[in-house]
Amino acid sequence: MSVTVRVPAKVNVQLAVGGARPDGFHELANVFLAVGLYDEVTATESTALEVVVEGRDADRVPADSSNLAARAATALAHRLGREPTVRLRLVKDIPVAGGMAGGSADAAGALLACDALWGAGLSRTELLGICAELGSDVPFSLVGGAALGRGRGERLTTLEVGGPLHWVFAVADGGLSTPEVYRECDRLRDASGQGAGVADVPEPQASPALLAALASGDAPALAGLLDNDLQPAALSLRPSLRRTLETGREAGALAGLVSGSGPTCAFLVADAEAGRTVAAALESSGHCRTARHTLSPAEGARLLTAPSR
Ligand code: C5P
Repeated sequence: MSVTVRVPAKVNVQLAVGGARPDGFHELANVFLAVGLYDEVTATESTALEVVVEGRDADRVPADSSNLAARAATALAHRLGREPTVRLRLVKDIPVAGGMAGGSADAAGALLACDALWGAGLSRTELLGICAELGSDVPFSLVGGAALGRGRGERLTTLEVGGPLHWVFAVADGGLSTPEVYRECDRLRDASGQGAGVADVPEPQASPALLAALASGDAPALAGLLDNDLQPAALSLRPSLRRTLETGREAGALAGLVSGSGPTCAFLVADAEAGRTVAAALESSGHCRTARHTLSPAEGARLLTAPSR
């Protein structure tokens, strides 16, 4: 018996990062938007927990119990009082360690797939609770669309979202470590004299103007408001991303920013034709490995197949 789930990538149209909390996480106002790049997770009954990874950059993804998808299956199995006897096949299309929540997508996908495979029938609230334990971005991967994440990003409020919006993603060679990017953000704040603690940094707030532009699908308005507090840290760790951002803007993107903790750069473009132009310019520039044109919003984790024998 096996079940396949498709799960989208995300871009953060606003990532407001507050101070470092005593638990090491940062308080966020995180405006998530799901975009049409997808991983697929197939769960098949097996005698033990196995992970197989295929697709783009599969060799950079751990194919063992440390994989977040395997941890999702294990968490659900514990909840159900059973063994996680499942083979998880991950087919990657979301950039690996790219700031687009690919690992979180695989975890949300594995959770939904195992829930169906094992006939558990957990409620959405129960699934979201397990997602939040697995990682800050995992709940959003389950719900998709657009949402504001508070706390460390796991407390979601669904947002109205217009569209379609056209995006180009410039995929870099190699990834960036999310904890390292947050640490660099703290270091830059300390070095500027501001300080990096909760008392030093204003409480992060979502921009009402940005939420209005997102709700109406107004690409030019949204372009002027895209904002990522992790961008200076990502650029500090990977200065070559400046050239990537310049290349996309010069080729006609409405705006560009680092996606989440990077190093993928996201460009909002006016339409499909601009998407093709910007993607072609980025690919021929040599300032990224590949460029992908896609649309938002995208729906969250979804069963592609009913459980089948
Ligand atoms: O929640 P997740 O496991 O995805 O977080 C990975 C790392 O990113 C954390 O260990 C932490 O270093 C950093 N992080 C953070 N504040 C957040 C979310 C993540 O500092 N709100």
